[in-house]
Amino acid sequence: MGSQIAMVCALAGYSTSLVDLSDELLDGARDALQSRMDRDVSRGRRARDDVDRAMERLRLSTDRATAVSECDFVIEAAAESLEVKRRIFEDLDRETPRRTILATNSSNIVSSQLADSTTRPDRVLNLHFFNPALVMECVEVVPHDGTAETVVDTSMELVRSLGKSGVRLRREIPGFVANRILGAIRREALELHDAGVADVEDIDRAARTALRHPMGPFELMDLVGIDVVHLIRLAEFEQTGDEGALPHPAVRRLYEAGHFGRKTGRGWYTYDDS
Ligand code: CAA
Repeated sequence: MGSQIAMVCALAGYSTSLVDLSDELLDGARDALQSRMDRDVSRGRRARDDVDRAMERLRLSTDRATAVSECDFVIEAAAESLEVKRRIFEDLDRETPRRTILATNSSNIVSSQLADSTTRPDRVLNLHFFNPALVMECVEVVPHDGTAETVVDTSMELVRSLGKSGVRLRREIPGFVANRILGAIRREALELHDAGVADVEDIDRAARTALRHPMGPFELMDLVGIDVVHLIRLAEFEQTGDEGALPHPAVRRLYEAGHFGRKTGRGWYTYDDS
């Protein structure tokens, strides 16, 4: 998601840095973005000039401290682990100017859990994009109790300038709005499957053809990533202590087998290059 969020920012005219852990990961991100953009140009969805200029505005780096030293806004999209994110926010607090807003793309780790790892809790919030970030319009803007109103306003303005539609939450709740609705659909789909009521393909078909969802719940888990779904559930359990939040056994089995969905070629469905 990080690479697509960065591309969205670069396309909107912002000078953008995409930071990751290794050159290999960054090379992979650049290739994937370039082929997405080439495809959009060939389908007439974007102008070649706009894409080329956006690619020039997008710097890729493994040196985060330098990349963020002058930036106004950081959107963190690391693994869904509280420990990892707290460490990143602590570092970002030292590496960025005082004015910089620090946002997390997490859908489950609410920003109040990160804010106190910085010396600027009033400039910390969640900015939650959806997958695939280049396509999906919604971004949830979620302040914690201590986020300054001006920071929320600026974030809403940023979202608007990215060509996205901001959904402003009045208070924090893990999963926010869209993922909680999605979670209810996913839970029901998994229960129907467990109870032998219908196959994965048919449950997905019902969601697509009866409800006009663009994808069924199982296809969507494969798109988002079984690993991500699994980690989100664990993070919610850690936050709430609610055992009902734990990953569904079938999701856990796929996760433990390393079947993460599209990214590994197998999840609920099997994928090949075609
Ligand atoms: N990345 C970037 N662009 C993509 C893409 C991807 N992974 N997949 C599709 N697209 C774009 C492309 O421009 C594509 O056109 P091309 O195939 O010509 O490149 C265009 O979308 C249309 O795609 P398709 O014709 O393949 O299929 P589609 O019309 O069904 O659209 C979809 C694909 C946009 C993904 C659509 O199926 C959809 O909206 N699915 C639901 C997605 C959704 O619910 N996302 C929310 C997930 S929850 C989440 O993200 C929150 C979280 O915290 C994890």
